[in-house]
Amino acid sequence: MAESATETRGSWNSKIGFVLAAAGSAVGLGNIWKFPTEAASNGGAVFLILYVICIFIVGFPVMMAELTIGRKTRKNPVGAFRALSNNFIYPIIGVWGLVCGVVILSFYMVVAGWTFGYVFEEIFFYLNMQNMAELFGNFNHGIKNSIFAILFMTATIAIITGGVSNGIEKATKTMMPILIGILVIMIGYVVTQEGSSQGLSAYLQPDFSNVSPSIIFNAMGQAFFSLSLGMGAMITYGSYLNENQNIAESALFVTVADTGIAFLAGLLIMPTMFVAQANGVQIFTESGDLVASSALVFQVLPELFHQLGGLLGLIIGVLFFLLLSIAALTSTISLLEVPTSFAIDEFGVARKKAAVGIGLAILVISLFISFDISLIGSLDTVFNKVGLPLGGMLTCLFVGFVWKAENAINEIEHGFPGVHDHFISKVWPFFIRYVCPVLILFNLLSDLVF
Ligand code: PHE
Repeated sequence: MAESATETRGSWNSKIGFVLAAAGSAVGLGNIWKFPTEAASNGGAVFLILYVICIFIVGFPVMMAELTIGRKTRKNPVGAFRALSNNFIYPIIGVWGLVCGVVILSFYMVVAGWTFGYVFEEIFFYLNMQNMAELFGNFNHGIKNSIFAILFMTATIAIITGGVSNGIEKATKTMMPILIGILVIMIGYVVTQEGSSQGLSAYLQPDFSNVSPSIIFNAMGQAFFSLSLGMGAMITYGSYLNENQNIAESALFVTVADTGIAFLAGLLIMPTMFVAQANGVQIFTESGDLVASSALVFQVLPELFHQLGGLLGLIIGVLFFLLLSIAALTSTISLLEVPTSFAIDEFGVARKKAAVGIGLAILVISLFISFDISLIGSLDTVFNKVGLPLGGMLTCLFVGFVWKAENAINEIEHGFPGVHDHFISKVWPFFIRYVCPVLILFNLLSDLVF
């Protein structure tokens, strides 16, 4: 019975397949677009160091907790919390995660659509079709936004429908190497251009004059979003893991891969900005700050690509926006997989029906957002910046005090036989019981105060 249930739920085909799928979920717009600009506007290396600390002190332990809950229960987040406790209250943590994931996906789709739209913007610009280029580069255009959100959702549903190993694993195994290849080629090109060294120092030199109390809040929020934590994605991906896979090692791989790619993205974006400046593009706002977030990706960079001109400008521009689109797609897959697995597990819906039905329902929200993109900011604050750390904190407390860290360690022992003698079995429980929840809570409260 258990066997067939596992079979119908699907599982990863290989260790590397899981690592790439989970890294694909983690590596997204958060790494390539958000991380470099957060670093740029928060004191360069100061942010970088705080971010790495947040990743390893809070992100890594939470990632282990989520993967362990998933593999132990082999269930979606709601079912998983129910399976590990007899109290009806705890599955609410899973429900909260589900809600956050659904809302995040609804606006992530629109932004992902912009990135793909810009591939066409670059092509039309090259072809001298200015009106078309402007249309595809206009992110206030509701109908254009909707069409690209529909396209992106269709691709996401198509991959999810293929199942865990044939859909998600295969797709991410193909896309992740392409993503890394494009990233490395582009860095290689950009760092040889005039102005790039200034960008490297803005990124890598600590600038304490730019540090504000909100920097830790930003670093912690970025860590949760970037590692896809706090909303059940890693519980769901963990539920497809085999008994013989080492959870601690896998969590470490995914964490390091995500952080490494964010770091590399900084090596691309920051020098690119200063190369753009050397080419006459405005990269500072009137108040003297570096242009950040959407203005950076969708104004400064395209302007640079246009100035490069010719075939070179076209190739660099198309590659860059393809890179963003691929990164976004490997993340939207995981965002949709969470509610899909919920519908499959809890209501016995067939995978295809679940993916199509839920995907379309979320798309309806995306269409609203397509016509009013000002909604993105507030949704992002509630469901991402507050929602994910909150979900992560509750998950830690649940594992530490309700399910009990000892039981989690016993689960981790499958695939990691020496864990009981390893220092991780002493340190990790302390972190998820006390260090992580206290730091997350302090961080959430500090933002309310400051
Ligand atoms: N980690 C993704 C990114 O960096 C976003 C994401 C968040 C994906 C939560 C899944 C779950 O863009």
